Amino acid sequence: MVIEASGLGVRMGERWLFRDLDLAVAAGECVAVVGANGSGKSTLLHALYGLQEPTEGTVSVVGRTPDEREPDFRRAVSVVLDDSALYDEYTPEQHMHMLGLAGETGLPDIASVEMSAGQRRRLLLTGAVRREHRVLLLDEPERALDATARGWLAEIITEAKKTSAVVIASHHAPLVAKVADQVVRL
Ligand SMILES: Nc1ncnc2c1ncn2[C@@H]1O[C@H](COP(=O)(O)OP(=O)(O)OP(=O)(O)O)[C@@H](O)[C@H]1O
Ligand SMILES: [Mg+2]
Repeated sequence: MVIEASGLGVRMGERWLFRDLDLAVAAGECVAVVGANGSGKSTLLHALYGLQEPTEGTVSVVGRTPDEREPDFRRAVSVVLDDSALYDEYTPEQHMHMLGLAGETGLPDIASVEMSAGQRRRLLLTGAVRREHRVLLLDEPERALDATARGWLAEIITEAKKTSAVVIASHHAPLVAKVADQVVRL
């Protein structure tokens, strides 16, 4: 399994966000984490990336304890999380170049700070799926995307699944229905 969690639990103060959570995600699979605002979806993704220490249980991603400070771990795990950001002054092409990637993004050739929220989101997602990875973690990837871009999003996740294990947190039921092999409800 590329992602494995056993008896995973995170408590914030007095409240358990989730507990006794088992997760097994192989390459070729997508797990969708769903649930109301504040239910702990982002926290679970953070736990898979090493940004949130579990209160109990174990988690292993690409055979390691998640630690985003580890270059080898970061290389294997591609993410778009809440706080993922772009370089304001860089164009899409410059962002791709920085990731060692070439190719058309279909986005305007302007600084990211001048782009719309949906265009910036598309650029973040494009960078995340095009770089090599074994795991893809996306927190509400549908946010700010229009209907056309949401269709594109389902396609790029399906494509990413061919080579990696994918976990998304999402509020968009049609996306979950299209891409998810397992659904975790928090
Ligand atoms: N660093 C923190 N310190 C204290 N509480 C936190 C922290 N991070 C998150 N929480 C709390 O944990 C709960 C779950 O937050 P989380 O962001 O994981 O929810 P979510 O399911 O992603 O919600 P949304 O759908 O709004 O994105 C919330 O009640 C939040 O206030
Ligand atoms: Mg969230």
